[in-house]
Amino acid sequence: MRPTGPKGPDMRVTIAGVELCSPVIAASGTFGYGIEFEDILSLDRIGAFVTKGLSREPMAGNPSPRIIETAAGMMNAIGLQNMGVHAFIAEKLPKLRKIKGVVTIANVFGFTIEDCIEVIHALNDAPGIAMYELNASCPNTSHGGMVFGTNHELLFDLASRCRAVSKRPLIVKLSPNVTSIGLMARVAADAGADAVSLVNTFLSLAIDPETRRPRIANVTGGLSGPAIKPIAVRMVNEVSRSVRIPILGMGGIVRAEDAVEFMLAGATAVQVGTASYADPRAVENIANNLKKWCASHHIPRVSELTGTAIL
Ligand SMILES: Cc1cc2nc3c(=O)[nH]c(=O)nc-3n(C[C@H](O)[C@H](O)[C@H](O)COP(=O)(O)O)c2cc1C
Repeated sequence: MRPTGPKGPDMRVTIAGVELCSPVIAASGTFGYGIEFEDILSLDRIGAFVTKGLSREPMAGNPSPRIIETAAGMMNAIGLQNMGVHAFIAEKLPKLRKIKGVVTIANVFGFTIEDCIEVIHALNDAPGIAMYELNASCPNTSHGGMVFGTNHELLFDLASRCRAVSKRPLIVKLSPNVTSIGLMARVAADAGADAVSLVNTFLSLAIDPETRRPRIANVTGGLSGPAIKPIAVRMVNEVSRSVRIPILGMGGIVRAEDAVEFMLAGATAVQVGTASYADPRAVENIANNLKKWCASHHIPRVSELTGTAIL
């Protein structure tokens, strides 16, 4: 039996040179701009949080209804509603910077490569951001988003040009709506990505049998939550076999054991999204319970879990 040290297991992980106090991160789009959660949980006790996708200009998003509950999950077509990168820098970032120990990852979105580059340029000059996560995978916009993440030439172009202007580590968020996610991860890595994150939501459709109409105004939406977890774990494992850069795994994580599963499959860190809708403290609870899980399983360093599934 191995000792876990007087303070318990070491929960630190490192991604592209950035050290996190825990591998459990709040996922983009489900945690606002972070600051809204200040009174709900301890932002310095979670590994990091990812902002809502930031675009060059503010975006109103898609018409309602744009969120529905499904069996073991939810569908959304928010359409990347956000305040825009400049308002984020002016209004949210100064408040975040006052909270000690918070790690902010800015999620970047654009309809064109030039849009993304402009967002990154704006963020480059703002202090208090640890990394960027480039959303190459949103299924809820008619152009940009998933279009980048499902075409390997476009993905290479997007990732390499964004990497060239990024002053901070660049995580490329991959779409699961592809035939080979391992190939797309390789393309991102070849383009210079410092890490990849996966999965974004699965393109989906729900129809009301009474009205025969889609339940979501956008017609299609993105499926998330526990329903997608086994597919996401399989994809993380596939990606771990095709790239050497760190992987941030997500999709349906609601408890510590789910996080362990993603790490065993090959993830260095994990993100928690939909679970925050059911319980706004979910990310911190999962981080705390992961530490307890490591202690009870005599694992001195959580980083030892990565890629150790016996498959
Ligand atoms: C309501 C909602 C909004 C989201 N918005 C974004 C976003 O702006 N950018 C992004 O990269 N991912 C976004 N996502 C995807 C999540 O970050 C995550 O990849 C996905 O939901 C799978 O994880 P989960 O099953 O834990 O929710 C959103 C997800 C939901 C449910």
